Amino acid sequence: MDKNKTILDACCGGKMFYFDKNDPRILFQDIREVETTLCDGRKFEIKPDVVGDFRSMQFADGSFSLVIFDPPHLLRNVGRSKFADIYESLNPKAKPTGWQHIKYGAWGQTDWQETLRLGFAECFRVLKDGGFLIFKWNETDIPVSKILALTDQKPILGHRVGKLNKTHWILFIKENN
Ligand SMILES: C[S@@+](CC[C@H](N)C(=O)[O-])C[C@H]1O[C@@H](n2cnc3c(N)ncnc32)[C@H](O)[C@@H]1O
Repeated sequence: MDKNKTILDACCGGKMFYFDKNDPRILFQDIREVETTLCDGRKFEIKPDVVGDFRSMQFADGSFSLVIFDPPHLLRNVGRSKFADIYESLNPKAKPTGWQHIKYGAWGQTDWQETLRLGFAECFRVLKDGGFLIFKWNETDIPVSKILALTDQKPILGHRVGKLNKTHWILFIKENN
């Protein structure tokens, strides 16, 4: 693995929140590769460095100083996107939908608790002791309290943003134990 990449984004999607989508310090992972045009005509792509699953990552223990974890947060089933097949290969009950699902993914009827529990465990496994995890969650469909219950690690701080204050940015440190 490239030693200069000290930061992992475990599910980078379209890298919408980055200043530099090709930041050489970051290893970008996602389970999908996507190149498409959204309904408003804008191009949208997911081009990770590594196509991988945050439930079972290929990286050694303690590989990164910082992990960014912004998993899908929607449960809705309002149609079917052309990426349905990818999700159904993850879980046959999942039914992804329109542009939000294309950009951000959605759980449909998947066992999202188990998926996120494994995701947190893997993010903390690949973090160095004393490393940080930045977690982002929008609680439109699932309250953040239910999500924080899926990891034993104790968050340090959190900040709500967005028009409805539903998006949480939460910071964890991996305890040295
Ligand atoms: C909310 S989006 C990430 C948005 C991103 N932070 C941005 O700035 O645009 C969540 C991403 O998680 C990815 N994903 C879903 N399940 C995954 C899994 N098991 N492993 C890795 N990525 C996954 C989806 O493909 C989707 O791109």
